[in-house]
Amino acid sequence: MKFFVDSADVKSIQAISEMGLVDGVTTNPSIIAKEGKDFEETIKKICEITDGPVSAEVVGTKSEEMIEEAKKLAEWSSNVVVKIPMTKEGLKAVSVLSKIGIKTNVTLIFNITQALSAIKAGATFISPFIGRLEDIGTNGFDLIEACRIMIDMYGYETEIIGASVRSMKHVEELALIGCDIATIPPSLFDSMLKHPLTDKGIEQFEKDWAQFTK
Ligand code: E4P
Repeated sequence: MKFFVDSADVKSIQAISEMGLVDGVTTNPSIIAKEGKDFEETIKKICEITDGPVSAEVVGTKSEEMIEEAKKLAEWSSNVVVKIPMTKEGLKAVSVLSKIGIKTNVTLIFNITQALSAIKAGATFISPFIGRLEDIGTNGFDLIEACRIMIDMYGYETEIIGASVRSMKHVEELALIGCDIATIPPSLFDSMLKHPLTDKGIEQFEKDWAQFTK
């Protein structure tokens, strides 16, 4: 499973990249606004850190607006993937963009028919939101598993990004059900890499080595 970083925090992305853990990056308007820096500059900096897909989202609501924005975003770097919301206008844009070779990530997917429609429109990636489904008492992993079965059954090429990931358990679960990608907030990487027995083991090795070399 690939790891994307769900962030526009350039320093954090750089640090995670130095461990060899960044296969790509996803952003959305809320993530960009949280950093409070220039959108274009931020996306370009992220694209210098990774060769993997970097999702930048459109804000227009009409397909023509989305297509115009997408063309501009795609010029920023060859690894920009245009994130498009799951709406009728969004799918119209995806259909046009896929025909002219602009990669898309259809976001805010909450059921199987939305996923299937985005795939058929030509989405390069689909982003089902696990955490937000859990917030309303629905199991997001059932949706990811269904997408996996559907994509494999019909031989579609679209990749599944497990989005709205909130815990280490989410990452584990996504890996076990064959999700192509988990997009993970930087803070989660810390807990993913830690185990008390690792710390205890290192402490013991240091103690034993110190005794031996005394
Ligand atoms: C990523 O592509 C999504 O925009 C992001 O994972 C949403 O996460 P949230 O539901 O925690 O805001």
